[in-house]
Amino acid sequence: MDIAVLNFGGQYCHLISRRIRALGVDAEILPAETAALELKNAKGIILSGGAASVYGKNAPQLDKNILSLNIPVLGICYGHQLIAHAAGGIVRSADHGEYGITQLKIKNRSKLMKNFPSSTEVWMNHRDIVEALPDNYAVTASTKNSRIAAFASEAKKIYGVQFHPEVTHTELGGEMLKNFVLDICKAPKNYRPKTIDDIVSEAKTVIGNQKAVIALSGGVDSSTAAVLVDKAIGKNLVAVYVDTGLMRENDAVFVRNAFPRLNLKIIDAKETFFKKLKRITDPEQKRKIIGKTFIEIFEDVAKKEHAEVLVQGTIYSDRIESGSARHASVIKSHHNVGGLPEKMNIELYEPLRDLYKDEVRKMAKKLSLPEELVNRHVFPGPGFAVRIVGEVTEEKAGIARKAAQIVEEELKKAGLYEKVWMGFAVLLPIKSVGVQGDERSYKYPIVVRIIESKDAMTANFAKIPYPILEKISTRITNEVRAVNRVVYDISNKPPATMEWE
Ligand code: XMP
Repeated sequence: MDIAVLNFGGQYCHLISRRIRALGVDAEILPAETAALELKNAKGIILSGGAASVYGKNAPQLDKNILSLNIPVLGICYGHQLIAHAAGGIVRSADHGEYGITQLKIKNRSKLMKNFPSSTEVWMNHRDIVEALPDNYAVTASTKNSRIAAFASEAKKIYGVQFHPEVTHTELGGEMLKNFVLDICKAPKNYRPKTIDDIVSEAKTVIGNQKAVIALSGGVDSSTAAVLVDKAIGKNLVAVYVDTGLMRENDAVFVRNAFPRLNLKIIDAKETFFKKLKRITDPEQKRKIIGKTFIEIFEDVAKKEHAEVLVQGTIYSDRIESGSARHASVIKSHHNVGGLPEKMNIELYEPLRDLYKDEVRKMAKKLSLPEELVNRHVFPGPGFAVRIVGEVTEEKAGIARKAAQIVEEELKKAGLYEKVWMGFAVLLPIKSVGVQGDERSYKYPIVVRIIESKDAMTANFAKIPYPILEKISTRITNEVRAVNRVVYDISNKPPATMEWE
């Protein structure tokens, strides 16, 4: 590893390593507490953002010796504040937070920002600020609410930036990381991502002659994982599609047709899921129930098949968002991550654990998976349960599924399906008055949510032309009996998440 990224729990931590790997340089995410001694062979160290306040009771701290290793250090957001704090500066909570795109004024071009214009857009996400710098550090850039938005000690090669260069909204973020990694750290370009052959041979070594099971959801991640492992161990892999009743329209048939070669078992568990979700309204509780039920069904299949390995299509961003990284705050518990091995007494193997969505899609194309599957929108593991606010019933799942199908069809017709991250329908647990066929109606509203995103960490609502939205709205109210009103969700992430629950 040439660049060590210490993870202080920030949402965007893994994007840092991703951008660096895209430059051809090896970067690895390590725990916040990693000791300076363990880092002495690194070419550079990056301290990530994080949700804590450096003065907080359980705030993750930094081994201060890292600042005397004579290795370049870049602190981002919380990392920027940590450097200032550790080296004797002052950090405090600001009167105003700074969230989103902000104008950065460059005061003094450090090596990090060489050749930058005098002003550029950056992405901010903080409340604390660096109020005073330690000795021998200089302010290099400011924003309206952060006088010390960037600082540097060129002599020590230590830099801090309050904004997030790893997020695509920061105009020159890529340039900045490049300056740090290639010019300042002089890291060699000898990283290459895992190939299909690498993963197949890894799977052969890890699984050997054992039997394995995989939960196939019909999404691109589990499908790619299944095909890779099938290449490695053939019929020793049993793929299981669990029909939870919360999946997309005709999903079971779709999966059956997409994988004629796989050793595939389709399990109809609709009744069990709806029974367990009865009267449950809390989103996290729904997720946990669905996760637990999944595990139970799996345990059953795994036992019957005498499987010793559980293969999962978990990708890198799943692991970060589920808080498996220490200090990351849990936004949502994704049901397909965490806790399984102890419970199942089965070995867990995640062939895609270090890949990002677009890398998985590229791999899926190379593996000749059906185009429709490769380009399919992401679909959450708990399915419509997180798109039905409040209690989930079979009837409500039917309504949300039909409406979602219409959204997808209209996006495809308009040539927009592949341009957006996701388009779906959310069912709200309220009713409103309408008039249909000269009669008063009192029915559910559907929220249409269509979003654009590059990496799932941030997202914008898609500016879909009104005539297309109107078509979607008209079709939903015409074709889904229980609905008389359609609204469009115009929230970005943050502050909202993509899913409603
Ligand atoms: P949020 O709602 O967190 O969603 O902005 C980000 C992306 O993750 C998907 N998602 C999930 N995927 N299990 C999954 O496998 C889950 O529990 C889950 N929750 C959200 C979501 O669809 C979006 O693409």
